[in-house]
Amino acid sequence: MKNNYSEKFEKMRVAGKLAAQTLDMLTEFIKPGITTEKIDRLSYEFIRDNGGYSAPLFYRGFKKSLCTSLNHVVCHGVPSERILSEGDALNVDVTAIINEYYGDTSRMFVVGEVSIKAKNLIDTTYESMNKAIKILKPGIKLGDIGYEIQSYVENKGYSVVRDFCGHGISNVFHEAPNILHYGKKNSGTELKPGMTFTIEPMINDGKYDVKILNDGWTAVTKDKSLSAQFEHTVGITENGYEIFTESDKGFIKPPYN
Ligand code: MF3
Ligand code: CO
Ligand code: CO
Repeated sequence: MKNNYSEKFEKMRVAGKLAAQTLDMLTEFIKPGITTEKIDRLSYEFIRDNGGYSAPLFYRGFKKSLCTSLNHVVCHGVPSERILSEGDALNVDVTAIINEYYGDTSRMFVVGEVSIKAKNLIDTTYESMNKAIKILKPGIKLGDIGYEIQSYVENKGYSVVRDFCGHGISNVFHEAPNILHYGKKNSGTELKPGMTFTIEPMINDGKYDVKILNDGWTAVTKDKSLSAQFEHTVGITENGYEIFTESDKGFIKPPYN
C-alpha cells in the first residue's frame, strides 16, 4: 500500500535489518574469553562492510561503535578490555545508519550459565518490551506504552529506570517524542500512522536509581543491582505496527541456539 510514509518505512526497514543482522552476527562470538572491545570491532567492521556506519561512534563524544552494558550497567557501557566470563549478563546495543536512516536495537546475551535471578530479570525485561509493542496502533497514547511496561515489571518486584527512555528515530538518531517506559493509561501524545520510535525498557532487579561513572557515559544502578534491557525500532501503521529490527535468525532472547 502506498501512503505518505512508505518511503520512510522502506529506509527504516533497511537500517533496522542491518542493526539486527549485526546482533545476529555477534551472537556466536559472545562467549567466555572475548573482550567487549572485540565485540565493538566486529560490529564496526560488519556494519561498514554492509554499506553502513555505526551511529554511536563520535556521537556526542562517544568513542566506540556500540554500547556494551554488563551486569549492573544500565546502559551506555563503553567497550573496553574487560573479558567476558561465565555468569556475565550483557546488553549489546547497536545503532546502524545507512542511506541516512537509523536502526537501533539491543538484546541481552548470557555468557555461559547465568543465575536464575538474572534469567528471570532478562525474561521479564524482554516480555515487557514485547507486551508494549503488541498494543501499538493509531489512537493509543504514549502513556499506554509506559503503563504496559511498568505494571508488568513492578508486579514482579522489579523497577523501571526513569533517567533514560526510548525516542523518536528516523533520519535523526534521537528525536521527539520521548518514549517513557513508565506511565499512566490514556495519557500523553496519541500515536499516529507513520510515527517511528524505539521501545527500550531498562529494568532493574533493585531500585530504579542510576548514577553515571566518571567516564561520563556508563550508567549503573546505584544499589548495584542487576539491570537488563532490550530495544526494538518500530513504526506505527494504519492499523498496527511494524518492527524494523527483528532478527532474521529468529533470535529473540537468550539462550540463542
Ligand atoms: N543506542 C542508544 C540508544 O538506544 C544510544 C547510544 S548513544 C551512545 O538510544 F553514544 F551512547 F552510543
Ligand atoms: Co535507542
Ligand atoms: Co540503542
